[in-house]
Parts: sequence; structure tokens; C-alpha cells
Amino acid sequence: MGLQNQLLAKEPDRSQQIPLERFLIDADWRFQKGEPSSNRAALDYDKIRNVVLESAAENLKNGGISSASGLHLGENILFCQPGFDDGSWRQLDLPHDWGIEGPFDRKLPGSTGKLPSSGIGWYRKHLLLPASDAGKQIYLDVDGAMSYSLVWCNGQFAGGWPYGYSSFRLDITRCIQFGADNVIAIRLDNPKDSSRWYPGGGIYRNVWLVKQHPVHISHWGTFVTTPEVSQTNARIVLSVALENDAAEPADVLVKTVAFLGGKSCFVFPVRSERLPAGGRGALETTQIIKNPSLWSPETPAMYSAVTTVSLGNKVVDSYTTPFGIRSIAFTADHGFLLNGRRVYIKGVCNHHDLGALGTAINVRALERQIDLLQEMGCNAIRTSHNPPAPELLDLCDRKGMLVMDESFDAWRVPKVRNGYNRLFDDWAERDLKALVLRDRNHPSVILWSIGNEVYDQGKPEAAILAKTLTGYIHSIDTTRPTTHGCDHIESGYNGFQDGVDVFGYNYKPWEYANFHAQHPLKPLFASETASTYSSRGYYQFAGDSVKYQANSYDLDSGGWATTPDREFEGQDRNRFVAGEFVWTGFDYFGEPTPFDTGVARSSYFGIFDMCGFRKDRFYLYQARWRPEFPMAHLMPHWNWPQRVGQPVPVQVYTSGDSAELFLNGKSLGLKRKATFQYRLRWEAVVYEPGKLKVVAYKDGKRWATDSVETTGPATKLILQADRRTIKADGFDLCFITVTVADKNGLQVPRSENHIRFAIEGPGEIAATDNGDATSYESFRSPENNAFNGLALVVVRSKPGLQGTIKLSASSEELRDACLKIKSSIGNAP
Ligand code: GAL
Repeated sequence: MGLQNQLLAKEPDRSQQIPLERFLIDADWRFQKGEPSSNRAALDYDKIRNVVLESAAENLKNGGISSASGLHLGENILFCQPGFDDGSWRQLDLPHDWGIEGPFDRKLPGSTGKLPSSGIGWYRKHLLLPASDAGKQIYLDVDGAMSYSLVWCNGQFAGGWPYGYSSFRLDITRCIQFGADNVIAIRLDNPKDSSRWYPGGGIYRNVWLVKQHPVHISHWGTFVTTPEVSQTNARIVLSVALENDAAEPADVLVKTVAFLGGKSCFVFPVRSERLPAGGRGALETTQIIKNPSLWSPETPAMYSAVTTVSLGNKVVDSYTTPFGIRSIAFTADHGFLLNGRRVYIKGVCNHHDLGALGTAINVRALERQIDLLQEMGCNAIRTSHNPPAPELLDLCDRKGMLVMDESFDAWRVPKVRNGYNRLFDDWAERDLKALVLRDRNHPSVILWSIGNEVYDQGKPEAAILAKTLTGYIHSIDTTRPTTHGCDHIESGYNGFQDGVDVFGYNYKPWEYANFHAQHPLKPLFASETASTYSSRGYYQFAGDSVKYQANSYDLDSGGWATTPDREFEGQDRNRFVAGEFVWTGFDYFGEPTPFDTGVARSSYFGIFDMCGFRKDRFYLYQARWRPEFPMAHLMPHWNWPQRVGQPVPVQVYTSGDSAELFLNGKSLGLKRKATFQYRLRWEAVVYEPGKLKVVAYKDGKRWATDSVETTGPATKLILQADRRTIKADGFDLCFITVTVADKNGLQVPRSENHIRFAIEGPGEIAATDNGDATSYESFRSPENNAFNGLALVVVRSKPGLQGTIKLSASSEELRDACLKIKSSIGNAP
């Protein structure tokens, strides 16, 4: 198990038996971007489509394994030959996103981030397998590679998988030379015009080597369901898929022990099974337990089932299945029920990039996103619009987030020329089944989404397609409903609604009542909402001419979308709606609406900017989603030297019900939220420098305060780390906020000072950023400008090297700042 995964603090394998041999093989690959044109001619997907499909043919039957046995591809291609000298190729470790390395190119489309993510890329890795492995089954697990993967092992074609967001397993046993060096070669082809957002490029998720006894549990072969759940009892059903790749039949004994908090807590009845030679088998075993620890966002109790397979007295395989005990139900009248109790879905949609780190998966960066979302009161993530990294779901299980696990942004009808439409007919079933098999044990997953705003909605066959996709999912998992994010009002009435179990409207708060009246038995939720745009810390008044920055008063949304407030009202008038997923939690590369043409390269929709810094909207959602948390937030900043004597609109977001505003000690009046009002507004506060303060009340009692103050000129930099100790594993990160401040330590609102960073000790600067959607500065650069008073430095530890990391920041005419953090092998933060 790799270090990256250890960060997840998974349940230790207490079986004391042979563990599943699963090795992270991310280190030490060779990489080259591009290839001779002859390769291209031979490996063009349209020409080799049948071979790739055939390699994945078995995948539908056997629990997610592809095998290219007997198939030939690329025999004349030099790059996949074991003897090819790749010494001149770049050496790197996975996960790797070649696009984020830049440079930004103004000529590239803003929709995909103005980053060079498209093109061909080759990866090669040498692997020594000892002679003692002979007789084992050898698999390669790719969690995600963007895109059109083709894989060779020792020059033999091992299989391929085009959709860059799917995880897949290849059986490479027959290609392996035991006791010798082996070469894995992977070719990726990321076509232009394949995505509506930044897809990234490269092997951007983890790659694993798996060694198993010929008699073993199938890939993604366990499934835990909890058909009866109460506070006092739970019935837990475990099904296990087995396979026997040996030439003899096998009589196996399958035992499973369940653990909670590191201690064994119950066992499943032991089962035996005869597996025919080269055949498969499946079994089910059930246990009823008392006083289960139920999984919920507040108490995300995770059990794990350790299943062992024995032949005679010998354990030949073991497999750990983390699971949670919980019941879910979507109801037409009372929204979403978890363990019989209503849980309002307070969700965000997120794309998969991690800001300045690109799409290369990093567990700590994902964890930080979840921490920030939870601080806002968010309890759900929609993995828009594709299967997520498996690590995201592990984190959601552990931290108590609900997940809408999504598959596609397109079916047959293209949104972009080379989108999923190219693959839909051949691959939709495979991709959906891969998703469901992989993710079905995560208690966090509550909904399977078959698509987002697919253009097919307008076609007569759409309802049938929806039913077919729902059927693929329910052929594996009947415990969770399916859904789709619908932007066509008609989809709620023309039969499409019958193709999904739970209906999701994108941006249609005015339609909820009618839908419910027409379909009193159909559960409904807001699958996508708001799409409000803003640039952190930027406020615009009539006559201002700043380009490519969006106003932060949170009143601007696209014509197809609504303000957050309009959406809240729709839900509050119709309490049967299960909740919402806001577009989006975090800004992402690409789709820089409302500046789709021009210099902008990243979105403005985020509640957080690309750095993960809170925009004002954070507080609007926090006020709604954490009503018991006393908070008030005042905006805008109070540095308006050019507006002395002129009106400046002031807004307050509060979880209170009323608030009084004071400018330099003078009351500007108390305002109370009316029904369906979610923010307090003082439209025309006549500006004078000084201190603006708000006192919020709830039920007549003082509840919370906030203030903004006119600052002096910038004099210094302040550094603040999210954690003081990180793990010395080469993956862990420290996110350091850099504030440009006046002499009293107040953030100077519009400052854009150029800052240089230097690092000493066992750490490196992984990225710098500032949240400006128009910046073309390289994220690798140790220099960056502040944007509206803030910048970000991401520091990464070095593997195995502990000690003190010292980061210093300097800028002309400002006092330098310096910060020390620890990198430690032993003490996990
Ligand atoms: C939605 C779409 C999202 C994003 C958003 C921007 O219609 O589902 O992917 O494009 O609009 O507002």
C-alpha cells in the first residue's frame, strides 16, 4: 500500500494472514510528450477501436478486468518495445498532469484553461518481478489516465481504456517475465476539443501492481449492503465474487471478520464454495448485529470487512472492504432520509482539478477542500461531471460527506466535437459498470448520476437511453437510486423523468411546485444551482472599467442560472426538495464565464477561488447551512478613497435574523430579514473612511459581529500555515496564506505586490497562486503577485526527510516574513 493511501489512515489489516499484494508503482517513470507521426497513423483510435473494445470485452462479465490475450497492436511501434532506450525521456513520478506545467497560452481556448493539456504522451516503467512470483496472477490497476489509454507489457498489447476518468484493471500475467525486468508502456492521446473544462493530461491518478494467487477474490469483487438498519439492529449482507485461474478445481473456504476502530467486532458465517478450473463463483453471507455504529455526516463510523480465502489450511488471498452501516431513502415529500432521519442536502458541484496543483491527485489537497466545505456547513459533493478519484470517496466516507457520483457530461449528442459522444455507444455500459463496481461499498455515495444536461434530453429516444443506463446500474446495485442533472424543463414531463429514480433539476427553482404536483410520488432535488460569478475581493460600481473580473456582490449569474437567494426561496417554498448542489464549490480551470472569450483561463463560479480562499459567498451559504453557528459577514472592504461622499452598497450575510450597521460608531439602522430574504442590504452607505461594523441579532439577542476597516498603506507580509507539522512522505502539503498587510496587520484590499518566495530544509515549493483568473504566471514559479491582498504557497514535504522547513517571503518596500513548519516521519498531524 502506497504512502499516499496511508494518509487515509485506512483500517489496518488485522487478519494476520496473507495480505493482498497491492503495490503503488508511481515512482520512477519515463515520460515523453509527442511521438513520430507513423505512431499516430498506426494507433489512431478510430482505426484500432475494435481491438481496444475487444480487450475490454471480458470486462462486462468478470468484474472489471480487461485482457488483451490473443490481440495484437503496436508490434512495430518502437516506444512499446522492451528494448527501446528511453534514457533521454524525462524521469518523473506519478501522478502527473502534463497540462498544468504550462505555459499558459493566450491562443488556447479559455474553456479548457489555456493550458496545453491536449496531445499525445508516452510513459514507460521498468518493473522487476522476482522468480518467486511465478504462478501468481499479475494485474495492473490504473485509477485514471487522460485519456485513450493503450497499455503494453514487454511489447505485447495488454489492453486499453479510452474514458480518462474511469479506473480499470488489466490482466498482464501472460506478458510478464518472472525473475526478470519487465517494461510497461502506456500511450495516452488527449484530443483537442474533448471537454468543456480543463481535463488535465497524463497519468494523473495512481497506478498499482497487484499480485494474487490464481484462486482469489475478483477485482472489486466484494459488496456489502445493509438492507435493515436501526439504532438497535442491522442486517449486513456481504457478497463475494471469486475466481479460479488455475487448471484444477478449487474448494475454498471464505471467512470474514469485521473491524471497527481497529478492533474486531463480529464475524460473518463461514462459507465454502467449489470453483471449477478456470471458473468463477459467488457467495453471500449475512450477519445481524446489535447496536451498530451508524454512518452519518456527524458520525462517519467506518467498519471494514477482512475476507480471507483458504485452500485447505492455507490462506491464499485476503481482501479488505471498508463499509458503513446506514440506510438511505429519497422520498417525494420529505427529501432525503439517512437512517430514517431527514438530512438536507447542502452540496456543491466540483470539477476534479486541484487548482495550482492541476489534476494530479493529492489526498491532502482533497482533504483540505473537504475541511473548508465542512466549515461552510456543506455536507455533499457532486463529482461533476465524471467518476472521481477513489481517494475522494475514501475521504468522504471518513469525513462524513455525501456524494452524488456522476458518470458523463454527454451521451450520443456532442457538446464538444471529441467528447464522450465518441465513446457512448461502445463504452457507456463498461464505464458505468466500472464506476458502480468500484464505488458501491462507499457509504458516502447516495446517488448514481447517469449524466449532466445531456443534449439527448431533447431527443425522443432519451427516455429509453436513461432507462437503459439506469438498468446497467441496477444490474449491480439496487440499493442506490439513479439521477441525472436536467436543464430542460420538459425532461420533467416527457417521460425522461421515468428513466431515473430521483429527478434532478439544474437551475429551475420556479419549477419545483409544478413538478411535485404532476409527480407526487417522485423525489426531487436541485442537482445544480446558482452559477453565480465573482472574483474574490473585487467589487464593481457603475462606470468601473476593470476587465475580466466579476463583481463580488453575488448578484450576477448567467441567464440560465439564478442568484443563490432565488434558489433558496425555491427550496424554502417547496420543502419536499431534497436539497441542492451549488455550482461550484471551488473555482476550476476553464469555463471562465462571463468572460468566455478573452484572456481569462479559469472559472468565477467558485464559492472558493482557485487557491481555496473564501469568497464572500462562503458566508452566504454558511449563514444558511449552519443556522446555529453565530456568524456575521460584512462586505465590501472599506478602502474607497475615490468614493468619499458617494454611496457604497453594503451587504451582510448572517445566521442571525437582523443586524444593525454602524459607520464610525454611528448607527445606520437595524434591518430584519423578511421571509425568503437571505441577505441584509444597506444600498447607499455614504462612504467615509474609518470602521464599518455590524452587530447581528437572533431572536432579539446579540448573536455575532463583524467589521471592516480602512487600512493604511501596505507595509508587511504575513504568512499563515494551515498546519504546523506535515508528514515527511513526499505527498503531504502545507498551504500557506500570504497576506499583504498594513502596519496594524489589516489585509490591504486591492494590493497586488510582487512577492518572492524562498525555501530551506526538507520541503519544496509545489506551487504558488493568487486566485486571479487572468494570471498567466507559472504555478511552478517561486514568485507571484498578490491578488486583492492575498497569495498562496503550497509546500510539499520530501520523502523520508524530516526537520524544519523555513519559508520566507519578500517584496519591495514591504517587511519580509518567514515561517517555520515541521516535516516529521513519526508524528502524523
Ligand atoms: C451548467 C453545466 C455546468 C456548467 C454550468 C456553468 O449548465 O451543467 O457544467 O457549465 O452550467 O454555469
